[in-house]
Amino acid sequence: MYRERVRNAALLERITSADEAAKLIRDGMTVGMSGFTRAGEAKAVPMALAERAKTDPLKITLITGASLGNDLDKTMAEAHLLARRIPFQADPALRRAINDGEVMFVDQHLSETVEMLRTRQLGPVDVAVIEAVAITEDGGIVPTTSVGNSASFAILADKVIVEINLAQPDTLEGLHDIYIPSYRPARMPIPIVSPESRVGMPYIPIDPDKIAAIVVTEKLDSSSTILPPDEDTQAIAGHLSEFLQHEVKAGRLTNTLQPLQAGIGTIANAVMHGLIDTPFHNLKMYSEVLQDSTFDLFDAGKLDFASGSSITVSAERYQTVLEDLARYKSRLVLRPQEISNHPEVVRRLGIIGINTALEFDIYGNVNSTHVGGTKMMNGIGGSGDFARNGYMSIFVTKSTAKDDVISSVVPMVSHVDHNEHDVDVLITEYGLADLRGLAPRERAPLIIANCVHPAYREQLGDYYRRAVARGGHTPHVIEEALSWHGRLRETGSMKI
Ligand code: COA
Repeated sequence: MYRERVRNAALLERITSADEAAKLIRDGMTVGMSGFTRAGEAKAVPMALAERAKTDPLKITLITGASLGNDLDKTMAEAHLLARRIPFQADPALRRAINDGEVMFVDQHLSETVEMLRTRQLGPVDVAVIEAVAITEDGGIVPTTSVGNSASFAILADKVIVEINLAQPDTLEGLHDIYIPSYRPARMPIPIVSPESRVGMPYIPIDPDKIAAIVVTEKLDSSSTILPPDEDTQAIAGHLSEFLQHEVKAGRLTNTLQPLQAGIGTIANAVMHGLIDTPFHNLKMYSEVLQDSTFDLFDAGKLDFASGSSITVSAERYQTVLEDLARYKSRLVLRPQEISNHPEVVRRLGIIGINTALEFDIYGNVNSTHVGGTKMMNGIGGSGDFARNGYMSIFVTKSTAKDDVISSVVPMVSHVDHNEHDVDVLITEYGLADLRGLAPRERAPLIIANCVHPAYREQLGDYYRRAVARGGHTPHVIEEALSWHGRLRETGSMKI
């Protein structure tokens, strides 16, 4: 069966075992691997490398699209294989190694990594390891369930290892649109003018001589770990829907809205799912991860088209989406993450970005990455690409975490990912604050009244009143601004 998938006959002789292929990777190398939010990662070679690291210690810099499935980040972290990890992860074991200072994690806007590689501000990439459904007659690599950074890794690396995954359906071929921007400063505009624009090739074009090894695998992607919608996420979705309907009434949007982007995780997925019960129709997505909610919206007849960089669905959805891809294929495209998240395209299309905060403050600054200001959660991912450049930037979160001992609305965020200038709308299960056109002294009372959990509303109101008494454009009781995080550390709760 692999003969049908490796269509360049000369390459058949490069088929080898994962252990042999992994020998191309040596201590100190920079390796670019496919994989974006648990989809389409190379599976066998990283496992073989981690196994080898147990007896033959080696350290690599690992760059991917985003997080990996099949416990690969965990296995590589536990084998002490990773010296540096770029640009996103979401694994508890790797998170621990990062927060212990063992792995140097470079948390990057997902659109930027390959720009930096291309200009040699990062890298060079010694070896690329790319999962594929097929290699074409010309040696072109057809990716699987994600594109991520795979195209640029393969183009820029000295050597390429291809994992042909027979478990990935061959119907994936034709889904991808590989477009690589030209070099700056003479770059031409990226010709994407709507989510469905196809501007590139259906495979990654590389010189077949660079393919140094081919490994045949048969392991499925891991399914996503998102939880189903609950009362709070339904309330958040309700506030969002009401707000968007208000925008339609005001003549600023129509019922087809603008192309939508939704972040990773349970909350963003649940909020997108909530669009099913709304008057909006003929929607389009220009996003990075296509989660269950994308396919729920297709099935509900609400969504016309979705552009993304990966398909990451739950176990229940796997069969209906990947084993029956033909149902959706004409309405889908997967692009390099540099293009799905490109500031130029995000600005041109006027995207409504919906991303999740860990916490936000009374002026609208958002922390999406650092628990308690210090411990890395996952990374900024693409949220900054969309928040800075979109038509409207919406951040959602539950008003509290960990049985209410943490308020997600605080006097000052303990780490800033999205500053007040990039944040338009904040939503919790209690309500929504539309910050557009508001000065800091108008934002704070609105956020406190609409978004804060009742257990913290008076406490935050008291902070703000005392801050205003001191004056300032953005009033603070500066020595108390982070005291909520300090109190959590000392007493186990932010409550006074
Ligand atoms: N302090 C400490 N922990 C907090 C917290 C806070 N203020 N707010 C939430 N958490 C914890 C939750 O308790 C939960 O912990 P658990 O895993 O132990 O149960 C965890 O964070 C995840 O929160 P959850 O409410 O389940 O939300 P989620 O699955 O939607 O994830 C983010 C939320 C912020 C972690 C996730 O969206 C993320 O990593 N975002 C940054 C990247 C991004 O936005 N990418 C978008 C483009 S892909």
